[in-house]
Amino acid sequence: MEIFRSASPEETESVALRFAERLGPGSVVALTGPLGAGKTAFVKGIAARFGAASVTSPTYTLVNHYDGSVPVYHFDVYRIEDPDDETRLWIDEYLFGDGVCVIEWADNIADMLPEGAVRVEISKDPAMGENFREIKIC
Ligand SMILES: Nc1ncnc2c1ncn2[C@@H]1O[C@H](COP(=O)(O)OP(=O)(O)OP(=O)(O)O)[C@@H](O)[C@H]1O
Ligand SMILES: [Mg+2]
Repeated sequence: MEIFRSASPEETESVALRFAERLGPGSVVALTGPLGAGKTAFVKGIAARFGAASVTSPTYTLVNHYDGSVPVYHFDVYRIEDPDDETRLWIDEYLFGDGVCVIEWADNIADMLPEGAVRVEISKDPAMGENFREIKIC
C-alpha cells in the first residue's frame, strides 16, 4: 500500500499522473471517497498520462470516453446501486476490454471488479484543513 498527501487539486492530479505510469490496456482503477473528495481530479491526472483531455464528470451518462494513446473510460456509478443483468453486461465489456477503466464510487459495483483492479481511496481530514486529502493506493 502507498499513501500520498495532497494539498490542492493540482497536487492530486500530479499524484494521479505519476501513479498512471503503471497503467495500460486492461487496467481497472477503483476510486472511492466521499462527495468532493477529488475522484474526478484524480481521473484528470490519469487521462493526462494518456494524452487525453477534457475530463468531465459522467454523473448522468455513467461513462465518458477519452481518446488517448490508450482509450480511457471514465465511469461514475454513483447512481447504480444493484446493477441488473443488462447493466452488468455492458459494464463487463469495458472492464474486460483493452482500455483503461477508472471508476468513481467503485464500491457500488464491488462484486463486478476484476481481481487485478487497483483500489484508490481518497479521504478528507477536516483537522488538516479544507484542501487536505489522503490518497491511499492498494
Ligand atoms: N487536495 C485536493 N485534491 C482534490 N480536490 C481538492 C483538493 N482540495 C480541494 N479540492 C476541491 O475538492 C473538489 C473535488 O472535486 P471532485 O469533483 O474532483 O470530487 P469527486 O470526488 O469527484 O466528487 P463527486 O463524488 O461529486 O464526483 C473540487 O472542488 C476541488 O477544488
Ligand atoms: Mg466526481
